Amino acid sequence: MSRPVYGRAWQRAESYLTHEMKNLGLSVQRDAVGNLYGELPGSRPDLLPIWTGSHIDSVPHGGCYDGVAGILAGMEAARLLRAGGKAYPRTLSVNVYAGEEMSRFGVCCIGSRALSGKLCEESLTSSVDPDTGETLREAMEHAGVEVERYADDFARRPKVYASLELHIEQGDRLEQAGIPIGIVTGICAPTNFYVDVYGTQGHAGGVPMDSRRDACMAACEIGLALEQLARTSKGEYLTATVGSMETFPGTPSVIPGRVRLSVDIRAIREQDKAKLADDFRRVAEEIAMRRGVRVVFREPSDDLPVHCDDRLRRLLAAKAAELDYPSMPLISGPYHDSLFLHAFSPVAMLFVPSKGGISHDRREDTSLEDIAKGTDVLAYALDVLLSRTGE
Ligand code: HGY
Ligand code: MN
Ligand code: MN
Repeated sequence: MSRPVYGRAWQRAESYLTHEMKNLGLSVQRDAVGNLYGELPGSRPDLLPIWTGSHIDSVPHGGCYDGVAGILAGMEAARLLRAGGKAYPRTLSVNVYAGEEMSRFGVCCIGSRALSGKLCEESLTSSVDPDTGETLREAMEHAGVEVERYADDFARRPKVYASLELHIEQGDRLEQAGIPIGIVTGICAPTNFYVDVYGTQGHAGGVPMDSRRDACMAACEIGLALEQLARTSKGEYLTATVGSMETFPGTPSVIPGRVRLSVDIRAIREQDKAKLADDFRRVAEEIAMRRGVRVVFREPSDDLPVHCDDRLRRLLAAKAAELDYPSMPLISGPYHDSLFLHAFSPVAMLFVPSKGGISHDRREDTSLEDIAKGTDVLAYALDVLLSRTGE
Protein backbone atom coordinates (compact mmCIF):
# COMPACT_ATOMS: atom_id res chain seq x y z
CA MET A 1 0.00 0.00 0.00
CA SER A 2 1.43 3.39 -0.99
CA ARG A 3 -1.19 6.05 -0.29
CA PRO A 4 0.62 9.37 0.31
CA VAL A 5 -1.57 12.15 1.64
CA TYR A 6 -3.34 14.29 -1.05
CA GLY A 7 -2.20 11.86 -3.79
CA ARG A 8 -4.65 10.16 -6.17
CA ALA A 9 -5.04 7.02 -4.04
CA TRP A 10 -5.72 9.20 -0.99
CA GLN A 11 -8.33 11.20 -2.93
CA ARG A 12 -10.04 7.98 -4.04
CA ALA A 13 -10.05 6.67 -0.47
CA GLU A 14 -11.55 9.93 0.83
CA SER A 15 -14.37 9.84 -1.71
CA TYR A 16 -14.97 6.13 -1.03
CA LEU A 17 -15.27 6.82 2.71
CA THR A 18 -17.47 9.87 2.13
CA HIS A 19 -19.83 7.67 0.08
CA GLU A 20 -19.81 4.85 2.66
CA MET A 21 -20.31 7.26 5.58
CA LYS A 22 -23.33 8.77 3.81
CA ASN A 23 -24.68 5.24 3.26
CA LEU A 24 -24.45 4.79 7.03
CA GLY A 25 -26.58 7.90 7.50
CA LEU A 26 -23.68 10.09 8.67
CA SER A 27 -23.52 13.72 7.55
CA VAL A 28 -20.06 14.33 6.09
CA GLN A 29 -18.02 17.57 6.21
CA ARG A 30 -14.45 18.27 5.14
CA ASP A 31 -12.23 21.02 6.54
CA ALA A 32 -9.49 23.19 5.04
CA VAL A 33 -6.74 20.56 5.25
CA GLY A 34 -8.91 17.62 4.15
CA ASN A 35 -9.93 16.15 7.53
CA LEU A 36 -13.27 14.32 7.09
CA TYR A 37 -15.99 14.38 9.79
CA GLY A 38 -18.79 11.80 9.53
CA GLU A 39 -21.41 12.89 12.08
CA LEU A 40 -24.20 10.95 13.77
CA PRO A 41 -26.05 13.95 15.28
CA GLY A 42 -27.16 13.79 18.94
CA SER A 43 -30.39 15.23 20.36
CA ARG A 44 -28.48 17.80 22.45
CA PRO A 45 -26.29 19.93 20.14
CA ASP A 46 -25.39 22.02 23.20
CA LEU A 47 -23.32 19.08 24.57
CA LEU A 48 -19.73 18.51 23.40
CA PRO A 49 -19.32 15.70 20.82
CA ILE A 50 -17.40 12.45 21.00
CA TRP A 51 -14.74 11.87 18.34
CA THR A 52 -13.29 8.62 16.98
CA GLY A 53 -11.28 7.89 13.82
CA SER A 54 -7.74 7.72 12.47
CA HIS A 55 -5.88 8.18 9.14
CA ILE A 56 -5.88 6.67 5.64
CA ASP A 57 -2.54 7.87 4.34
CA SER A 58 0.27 5.30 4.45
CA VAL A 59 4.05 5.13 4.33
CA PRO A 60 5.47 4.08 0.93
CA HIS A 61 5.07 0.29 0.49
CA GLY A 62 3.24 0.14 3.82
CA GLY A 63 0.42 -2.03 5.07
CA CYS A 64 -3.36 -1.93 4.69
CA TYR A 65 -4.34 -1.69 8.36
CA ASP A 66 -2.28 1.22 9.77
CA GLY A 67 -4.92 3.92 10.35
CA VAL A 68 -7.61 2.34 8.16
CA ALA A 69 -8.57 -0.20 10.87
CA GLY A 70 -9.47 2.68 13.20
CA ILE A 71 -11.67 4.43 10.67
CA LEU A 72 -13.60 1.32 9.64
CA ALA A 73 -13.99 0.34 13.32
CA GLY A 74 -15.38 3.81 14.00
CA MET A 75 -17.82 3.52 11.08
CA GLU A 76 -18.89 0.04 12.18
CA ALA A 77 -19.38 1.29 15.75
CA ALA A 78 -21.56 4.11 14.37
CA ARG A 79 -23.59 1.54 12.40
CA LEU A 80 -24.02 -0.67 15.48
CA LEU A 81 -25.09 2.27 17.66
CA ARG A 82 -27.53 3.49 15.01
CA ALA A 83 -28.95 -0.03 14.65
CA GLY A 84 -29.38 -0.11 18.43
CA GLY A 85 -32.04 2.58 17.98
CA LYS A 86 -31.03 4.66 21.02
CA ALA A 87 -31.38 8.46 20.70
CA TYR A 88 -28.05 9.70 22.07
CA PRO A 89 -27.76 13.20 23.53
CA ARG A 90 -24.18 13.71 22.26
CA THR A 91 -23.05 13.75 18.63
CA LEU A 92 -20.61 11.10 17.42
CA SER A 93 -18.07 12.18 14.78
CA VAL A 94 -16.12 9.50 12.89
CA ASN A 95 -13.08 11.32 11.55
CA VAL A 96 -10.41 10.81 8.92
CA TYR A 97 -7.35 12.90 9.86
CA ALA A 98 -5.21 14.00 6.90
CA GLY A 99 -1.50 13.23 6.62
CA GLU A 100 -0.63 11.30 9.77
CA GLU A 101 2.54 9.90 8.19
CA MET A 102 5.51 12.26 7.79
CA SER A 103 6.82 10.46 4.72
CA ARG A 104 5.59 12.90 2.06
CA PHE A 105 6.21 16.39 3.48
CA GLY A 106 8.45 15.70 6.48
CA VAL A 107 5.72 16.87 8.85
CA CYS A 108 3.50 14.34 10.59
CA CYS A 109 -0.14 14.50 11.68
CA ILE A 110 -0.98 17.43 9.35
CA GLY A 111 -4.74 17.25 10.02
CA SER A 112 -4.69 16.71 13.79
CA ARG A 113 -1.75 19.14 14.13
CA ALA A 114 -3.79 21.84 12.37
CA LEU A 115 -6.73 21.14 14.72
CA SER A 116 -4.37 21.50 17.72
CA GLY A 117 -3.16 24.90 16.46
CA LYS A 118 0.41 23.63 15.99
CA LEU A 119 0.59 23.82 12.17
CA CYS A 120 1.48 27.40 11.28
CA GLU A 121 0.04 28.54 7.93
CA GLU A 122 3.56 29.39 6.67
CA SER A 123 4.49 25.69 6.83
CA LEU A 124 1.89 25.04 4.10
CA THR A 125 4.27 26.75 1.67
CA SER A 126 7.61 25.91 3.34
CA SER A 127 6.94 22.12 3.43
CA VAL A 128 7.80 20.62 0.03
CA ASP A 129 7.42 17.10 -1.36
CA PRO A 130 11.02 16.31 -2.52
CA ASP A 131 9.71 13.93 -5.21
CA THR A 132 7.21 16.24 -6.90
CA GLY A 133 8.44 19.66 -5.77
CA GLU A 134 4.85 20.49 -4.74
CA THR A 135 4.37 22.53 -1.59
CA LEU A 136 1.93 21.21 0.99
CA ARG A 137 -0.52 23.96 -0.02
CA GLU A 138 -0.24 23.09 -3.74
CA ALA A 139 -0.79 19.40 -3.00
CA MET A 140 -3.92 20.29 -1.01
CA GLU A 141 -5.22 22.49 -3.82
CA HIS A 142 -4.49 19.78 -6.44
CA ALA A 143 -6.46 17.33 -4.26
CA GLY A 144 -9.46 19.69 -4.24
CA VAL A 145 -9.04 20.62 -0.57
CA GLU A 146 -10.35 24.13 0.24
CA VAL A 147 -7.14 25.33 1.91
CA GLU A 148 -8.15 28.97 1.37
CA ARG A 149 -10.39 28.54 4.46
CA TYR A 150 -7.35 27.59 6.56
CA ALA A 151 -7.26 30.64 8.85
CA ASP A 152 -11.02 30.47 9.52
CA ASP A 153 -11.18 26.73 10.08
CA PHE A 154 -8.32 26.60 12.58
CA ALA A 155 -8.64 29.93 14.37
CA ARG A 156 -10.04 28.17 17.42
CA ARG A 157 -9.52 24.76 19.03
CA PRO A 158 -12.50 22.37 18.63
CA LYS A 159 -14.47 21.59 21.79
CA VAL A 160 -14.63 17.82 22.21
CA TYR A 161 -15.84 15.81 25.24
CA ALA A 162 -13.64 12.74 24.51
CA SER A 163 -11.69 11.19 21.64
CA LEU A 164 -11.16 7.42 21.18
CA GLU A 165 -8.90 5.95 18.50
CA LEU A 166 -8.63 2.26 17.59
CA HIS A 167 -5.29 1.36 15.94
CA ILE A 168 -3.20 -1.70 15.17
CA GLU A 169 -0.42 -2.12 17.77
CA GLN A 170 2.47 -2.07 15.26
CA GLY A 171 4.44 -4.22 17.71
CA ASP A 172 4.16 -7.79 19.04
CA ARG A 173 3.38 -7.41 22.74
CA LEU A 174 -0.35 -8.28 22.42
CA GLU A 175 0.40 -11.27 20.21
CA GLN A 176 3.16 -12.48 22.58
CA ALA A 177 0.77 -12.17 25.53
CA GLY A 178 -2.13 -13.79 23.61
CA ILE A 179 -4.29 -10.78 24.50
CA PRO A 180 -6.68 -9.25 21.94
CA ILE A 181 -7.12 -5.76 23.41
CA GLY A 182 -4.45 -3.17 24.29
CA ILE A 183 -5.35 -0.05 26.28
CA VAL A 184 -2.75 2.63 25.67
CA THR A 185 -1.32 4.38 28.74
CA GLY A 186 0.92 6.86 26.89
CA ILE A 187 1.96 7.80 23.35
CA CYS A 188 5.63 8.36 22.53
CA ALA A 189 6.43 11.39 20.38
CA PRO A 190 9.18 11.88 17.78
CA THR A 191 12.09 14.27 17.55
CA ASN A 192 13.06 14.42 13.88
CA PHE A 193 15.89 16.15 12.06
CA TYR A 194 18.32 15.68 9.20
CA VAL A 195 22.11 15.57 9.50
CA ASP A 196 23.94 16.93 6.45
CA VAL A 197 27.56 15.66 6.39
CA TYR A 198 29.94 17.68 4.14
CA GLY A 199 33.26 16.06 3.12
CA THR A 200 35.42 16.26 -0.01
CA GLN A 201 34.14 14.72 -3.23
CA GLY A 202 36.83 12.79 -5.09
CA HIS A 203 37.84 10.02 -7.46
CA ALA A 204 37.28 6.52 -6.01
CA GLY A 205 40.57 5.34 -7.56
CA GLY A 206 42.63 8.49 -7.42
CA VAL A 207 42.37 9.53 -3.76
CA PRO A 208 44.47 7.45 -1.30
CA MET A 209 42.59 6.13 1.76
CA ASP A 210 44.58 8.19 4.28
CA SER A 211 43.79 11.52 2.64
CA ARG A 212 40.02 11.22 2.26
CA ARG A 213 37.29 13.32 3.84
CA ASP A 214 34.63 10.74 2.98
CA ALA A 215 31.17 12.10 3.88
CA CYS A 216 29.59 8.64 3.56
CA MET A 217 31.97 6.83 5.92
CA ALA A 218 31.56 9.67 8.42
CA ALA A 219 27.75 9.39 8.12
CA CYS A 220 27.93 5.64 8.71
CA GLU A 221 29.99 6.16 11.89
CA ILE A 222 27.53 8.85 13.02
CA GLY A 223 24.60 6.47 12.41
CA LEU A 224 26.27 3.71 14.44
CA ALA A 225 26.96 6.22 17.23
CA LEU A 226 23.24 7.07 17.34
CA GLU A 227 22.37 3.38 17.63
CA GLN A 228 24.94 2.89 20.43
CA LEU A 229 23.61 5.88 22.38
CA ALA A 230 20.03 4.58 22.11
CA ARG A 231 21.00 1.03 23.06
CA THR A 232 22.81 2.20 26.20
CA SER A 233 20.27 4.88 27.20
CA LYS A 234 18.23 4.34 30.38
CA GLY A 235 15.23 6.04 28.73
CA GLU A 236 11.94 4.10 28.71
CA TYR A 237 10.67 3.19 25.22
CA LEU A 238 13.54 5.12 23.72
CA THR A 239 14.21 4.37 20.06
CA ALA A 240 16.48 5.98 17.47
CA THR A 241 16.33 5.33 13.74
CA VAL A 242 18.17 6.41 10.61
CA GLY A 243 15.39 5.82 8.10
CA SER A 244 17.07 7.35 5.07
CA MET A 245 20.62 8.12 3.92
CA GLU A 246 21.25 9.89 0.61
CA THR A 247 24.77 10.18 -0.78
CA PHE A 248 25.71 12.86 -3.33
CA PRO A 249 26.52 12.48 -6.15
CA GLY A 250 25.62 8.83 -5.38
CA THR A 251 27.65 6.92 -7.94
CA PRO A 252 30.16 4.05 -7.40
CA SER A 253 33.29 5.78 -8.73
CA VAL A 254 32.96 8.99 -6.68
CA ILE A 255 33.78 9.51 -3.00
CA PRO A 256 30.62 11.24 -1.70
CA GLY A 257 31.10 14.90 -0.89
CA ARG A 258 27.76 15.19 0.88
CA VAL A 259 25.41 12.82 2.69
CA ARG A 260 21.96 13.57 4.19
CA LEU A 261 20.74 11.17 6.85
CA SER A 262 17.41 11.34 8.68
CA VAL A 263 17.19 10.91 12.45
CA ASP A 264 14.02 9.82 14.30
CA ILE A 265 14.25 9.68 18.11
CA ARG A 266 11.30 8.67 20.31
CA ALA A 267 10.63 8.21 24.01
CA ILE A 268 7.75 8.35 26.44
CA ARG A 269 9.58 10.93 28.55
CA GLU A 270 10.55 14.23 26.90
CA GLN A 271 13.72 14.58 29.00
CA ASP A 272 15.06 11.21 27.75
CA LYS A 273 14.51 12.26 24.14
CA ALA A 274 16.14 15.67 24.70
CA LYS A 275 19.17 14.08 26.41
CA LEU A 276 19.71 11.56 23.63
CA ALA A 277 19.42 14.31 20.97
CA ASP A 278 21.96 16.48 22.81
CA ASP A 279 24.39 13.58 23.35
CA PHE A 280 24.03 12.63 19.70
CA ARG A 281 24.78 16.13 18.42
CA ARG A 282 27.92 16.27 20.59
CA VAL A 283 29.17 12.83 19.41
CA ALA A 284 28.44 13.65 15.78
CA GLU A 285 30.50 16.85 16.05
CA GLU A 286 33.42 14.85 17.60
CA ILE A 287 33.32 12.31 14.74
CA ALA A 288 33.18 15.13 12.19
CA MET A 289 36.18 16.86 13.79
CA ARG A 290 38.24 13.67 13.77
CA ARG A 291 37.36 12.89 10.16
CA GLY A 292 37.80 16.43 8.86
CA VAL A 293 34.17 16.75 7.70
CA ARG A 294 31.41 19.20 8.69
CA VAL A 295 27.95 18.36 10.05
CA VAL A 296 24.85 20.55 9.90
CA PHE A 297 21.62 19.66 11.77
CA ARG A 298 18.52 20.72 9.80
CA GLU A 299 14.72 20.98 10.02
CA PRO A 300 14.32 19.93 13.63
CA SER A 301 10.81 19.03 14.74
CA ASP A 302 10.04 17.99 18.28
CA ASP A 303 6.69 16.80 19.59
CA LEU A 304 5.75 16.07 23.18
CA PRO A 305 4.70 12.61 24.44
CA VAL A 306 1.22 12.44 26.03
CA HIS A 307 -0.52 10.34 28.66
CA CYS A 308 -4.00 9.00 27.90
CA ASP A 309 -6.97 9.99 30.04
CA ASP A 310 -7.32 7.69 33.09
CA ARG A 311 -11.13 7.92 33.13
CA LEU A 312 -11.35 6.84 29.49
CA ARG A 313 -8.80 4.09 30.01
CA ARG A 314 -10.84 2.70 32.91
CA LEU A 315 -13.99 2.78 30.76
CA LEU A 316 -12.26 0.84 27.95
CA ALA A 317 -10.90 -1.74 30.41
CA ALA A 318 -14.35 -2.15 32.01
CA LYS A 319 -16.02 -2.66 28.62
CA ALA A 320 -13.39 -5.18 27.52
CA ALA A 321 -13.97 -7.09 30.78
CA GLU A 322 -17.75 -6.93 30.30
CA LEU A 323 -17.26 -8.47 26.86
CA ASP A 324 -14.91 -11.05 28.35
CA TYR A 325 -12.00 -9.88 26.20
CA PRO A 326 -8.67 -9.95 28.05
CA SER A 327 -6.91 -6.59 27.87
CA MET A 328 -3.58 -5.12 28.95
CA PRO A 329 -2.14 -1.62 29.35
CA LEU A 330 0.76 -0.70 27.07
CA ILE A 331 2.75 2.30 25.87
CA SER A 332 2.61 3.21 22.18
CA GLY A 333 6.05 3.58 20.57
CA PRO A 334 4.46 4.82 17.34
CA TYR A 335 2.82 8.25 17.50
CA HIS A 336 -0.78 8.75 16.37
CA ASP A 337 -3.23 11.57 15.68
CA SER A 338 -4.35 11.26 19.32
CA LEU A 339 -0.99 12.83 20.23
CA PHE A 340 -2.30 16.15 18.83
CA LEU A 341 -6.01 15.71 19.65
CA HIS A 342 -4.76 15.70 23.27
CA ALA A 343 -4.35 19.49 22.93
CA PHE A 344 -8.11 19.98 23.13
CA SER A 345 -9.68 16.68 24.20
CA PRO A 346 -9.14 13.85 26.69
CA VAL A 347 -7.82 10.97 24.52
CA ALA A 348 -7.66 7.17 24.79
CA MET A 349 -6.51 4.51 22.33
CA LEU A 350 -7.46 0.88 21.80
CA PHE A 351 -4.88 -1.42 20.18
CA VAL A 352 -5.56 -4.65 18.31
CA PRO A 353 -2.73 -7.15 17.66
CA SER A 354 -0.35 -6.91 14.68
CA LYS A 355 0.59 -10.36 13.38
CA GLY A 356 4.32 -10.86 14.03
CA GLY A 357 4.42 -7.26 15.23
CA ILE A 358 4.90 -6.26 11.59
CA SER A 359 3.85 -2.79 10.41
CA HIS A 360 4.99 -0.10 7.94
CA ASP A 361 5.46 -3.08 5.64
CA ARG A 362 3.23 -4.75 3.02
CA ARG A 363 3.14 -7.89 5.23
CA GLU A 364 1.23 -5.91 7.92
CA ASP A 365 -1.77 -8.01 9.00
CA THR A 366 -4.42 -8.12 11.74
CA SER A 367 -7.25 -10.66 11.87
CA LEU A 368 -10.76 -9.36 11.23
CA GLU A 369 -11.76 -11.26 14.38
CA ASP A 370 -9.40 -9.09 16.45
CA ILE A 371 -10.58 -5.91 14.71
CA ALA A 372 -14.17 -6.98 15.48
CA LYS A 373 -13.31 -7.41 19.18
CA GLY A 374 -11.71 -3.97 19.25
CA THR A 375 -14.77 -2.58 17.50
CA ASP A 376 -17.07 -4.12 20.11
CA VAL A 377 -15.11 -2.46 22.93
CA LEU A 378 -15.11 0.84 21.01
CA ALA A 379 -18.88 0.67 20.40
CA TYR A 380 -19.67 -0.19 24.03
CA ALA A 381 -17.47 2.66 25.28
CA LEU A 382 -19.00 5.12 22.80
CA ASP A 383 -22.49 4.02 23.93
CA VAL A 384 -21.60 5.13 27.49
CA LEU A 385 -19.92 8.40 26.48
CA LEU A 386 -22.65 9.42 24.02
CA SER A 387 -25.26 8.91 26.75
CA ARG A 388 -23.46 11.11 29.32
CA THR A 389 -25.11 14.50 29.73
CA GLY A 390 -23.01 15.74 32.68
CA GLU A 391 -19.74 17.72 32.21
O1 HGY B 1 5.71 6.66 12.62
C1 HGY B 1 4.74 6.49 13.37
O2 HGY B 1 4.87 6.35 14.57
C2 HGY B 1 3.34 6.45 12.84
O3 HGY B 1 3.07 5.15 12.42
N1 HGY B 1 3.17 7.37 11.76
MN1 MN C 1 2.12 4.62 10.41
MN1 MN D 1 -0.92 4.98 12.11
